Order: sequence, then structure tokens, then C-alpha cells
Amino acid sequence: MSEIQRELETKVYVAGHRGMVGSAIVRKLQNEGFKNILTRTRSELDLTNQQAVFDFFKEEKPQHVYLAAAKVGGIHANNVYRAQFLYENLMIEANIIHAAWLHGVEKLLFLGSSCIYPKMAEQPLVEEALLTGPLEPTNEPYAIAKIAGIKLCETYRHQYGANFISAMPTNLYGPGDNYDLETSHVLPALLRKIHTAKVNGEDEVHLWGTGSPQREFLHVDDLAIACVHLMDTYDGEDWVNVGTGVDLSIRALAEMICEVVGYTGRLAWDTSKPDGTPRKLMDVSRINALGWKAQIELRDGIERVYSEVKDTF
Ligand SMILES: NC(=O)c1ccc[n+]([C@@H]2O[C@H](COP(=O)([O-])OP(=O)(O)OC[C@H]3O[C@@H](n4cnc5c(N)ncnc54)[C@H](OP(=O)(O)O)[C@@H]3O)[C@@H](O)[C@H]2O)c1
Repeated sequence: MSEIQRELETKVYVAGHRGMVGSAIVRKLQNEGFKNILTRTRSELDLTNQQAVFDFFKEEKPQHVYLAAAKVGGIHANNVYRAQFLYENLMIEANIIHAAWLHGVEKLLFLGSSCIYPKMAEQPLVEEALLTGPLEPTNEPYAIAKIAGIKLCETYRHQYGANFISAMPTNLYGPGDNYDLETSHVLPALLRKIHTAKVNGEDEVHLWGTGSPQREFLHVDDLAIACVHLMDTYDGEDWVNVGTGVDLSIRALAEMICEVVGYTGRLAWDTSKPDGTPRKLMDVSRINALGWKAQIELRDGIERVYSEVKDTF
């Protein structure tokens, strides 16, 4: 059996395979020809249940693990369900990372998020900014859980020699995104609101905040390519930012979405709603130096996503 054939036989567990990131990783692995992709739905395996997770790893013995399961949401959900965001994310990552070490997983990739960095960290965000200042209060519980995940990978590497790595994606969008206005992130929320205003013939659409925060957006298919690339080639102890390295204001994003959707009404900003961190742009020099660069332009990505979802709203 050739080296490549052997690699394609690797038993790969994708935790969170029905989510936006997990499903993109599964698509990418399938496209590459991986034959042994292991998945479990939440009803088959609740990842907050330690015994169930340990039993699963003992029985299935995956060789590679992509940890893309998490409780995820936008500003509103992060701020309201603070205890759940902290508890569930801590449990999921601690259970999987410990089980992976106990049962000899060869390589694990943990997915964090750009919100691990301090609210007022210098921009663009370099990996070294971690733990240099206070976090954005609205998503502090989620960020603390994600920082704990990075530290689990780091300490299991130091103490036990486990090859566990971490990737920190910027804001994502793409197939499988969440369009529930109570819990969604900014890009899908804007797409849905602006589409709905167009369909209903409304001459103005109400949007949260001032529109001035600067954000960066990465198509999830680009992230999946980065994850598989890191799994194949990167064995370092430092976590790695994954983004485009380019940002724009929420106002500019909303205007771009209006163009894609074909909405010509007015954008009315509700400044009583929180803005979140003023600017979040990743420094992506580390992953660029490792041989990966984002390929999908934002406008093209939004057009792709809109054509996929517009009939489902
Ligand atoms: N979305 C973004 O913009 C973004 C940005 C940066 C980083 N990330 C990171 O990427 C990862 C995945 O995010 P995503 O956007 O793909 O989230 P998502 O679409 O909400 O998917 C999360 C997945 O985790 C599963 N899950 C949650 N709790 C579980 C539990 N107790 N037991 C079993 N499965 C559970 C969910 O299962 P169900 O399908 O059953 O609910 C779902 O499949 C997260 O670590 C997140 O922090 C995301």
C-alpha cells in the first residue's frame, strides 16, 4: 500500500460534523478520498457526557480528530446563555482531548476562535496577543472556554507528548450557517434581514449597532482546506490564526449584501444595541508561511451562499 493510500485509510473522527465547520471538513476529507470518516450525532453521543465520550474513543480508536463541536452563537446568545457557553464548551473539549490522549490519538486539531484575544489587543491580532489583556465582556465565557481548549492542547503536548494542535478561525460564513436571528452571527443575520426586507417590499431595514466595527470573514470551505492542511503538515505547539487578513466595516458589509440581494432601501442602525469589539482582524502571516492562503473573495462567497439559501428563508 502506498503512503497516500495508507493516509486515506486513516480513521478520522470529526466531532460536530453536522455543524458549519464540521460539515465543511467532512466534505473536504471526502473530496480528498478519505475512506474512514467517523461521525456521531448529538443524540448518539452527547459530548458533554464524559463516560460516553471515553467509551466511544475506547471502542472506535480514531487516529485523527477534528474537534469542531461546540456551543456557538452570536453576541446575543453569547451574552444571555453565559453559563451554558462556558460549561458546555469546557466539557466538550476536556472530554474529547482527555479521551484522545487516553486512547492514543495520533493527531488532534482543536478549533478555537478569534474572540480569545483581548478586546483592545493591537490589530491585526498576532497569536502572541493571547492573555495580554481583558476580553470582550459579551463573549468572555465562550472565550475563556476556548482559551482552556488551547491550553489543554498545549499542556497535553508538554506533559504527555501528545500531537495536539489548535487553529483560531476568524468569523466564518458558508453552507450550513445558522440563520436564526436570535442566535446567528452578523453575516447570516444581515443576509436574512436584508433579504426579508426586499421580499416584503420594506423601504428600511433595522440593523444592530452603529455599523462601525471592523470585521473579517472567511468562507468555511477555505477554513476546511486550512484544517486539513494543518493536520497534514503542522506539528508545532503554537496555535495558528486562520483568516483572510482583510477586514471591512459592518456598514460596508451590509452595503455589499444589499448589492448581492438587490435591496435598495435604507439601512437604519439601532445604536442602543451593543457593537462588540471595535475591530477584529487576524494576522495570518503564520499560516501563510505554512503554505495556506484564503482563496474565496468575500463578494463571491456571499453570492454563492445567497444562491444556496435564498429560497429557504
Ligand atoms: N461559526 C463561526 O463563525 C466560527 C468562527 C470561529 C470559530 N468557530 C469555531 O468552529 C467550531 C465549530 O463552529 P460551527 O460554526 O461549525 O458551529 P455549529 O454550526 O453550531 O456546529 C457545532 C456542532 O457541535 C455540535 N455539538 C454542540 N454541542 C454538542 C454536544 N453536547 N454533543 C454533541 N455535539 C454537540 C452540534 O451538534 P447539533 O448539530 O446536534 O447541534 C453541531 O454539529 C467551534 O469550535 C467554533 O468555536 C466558528
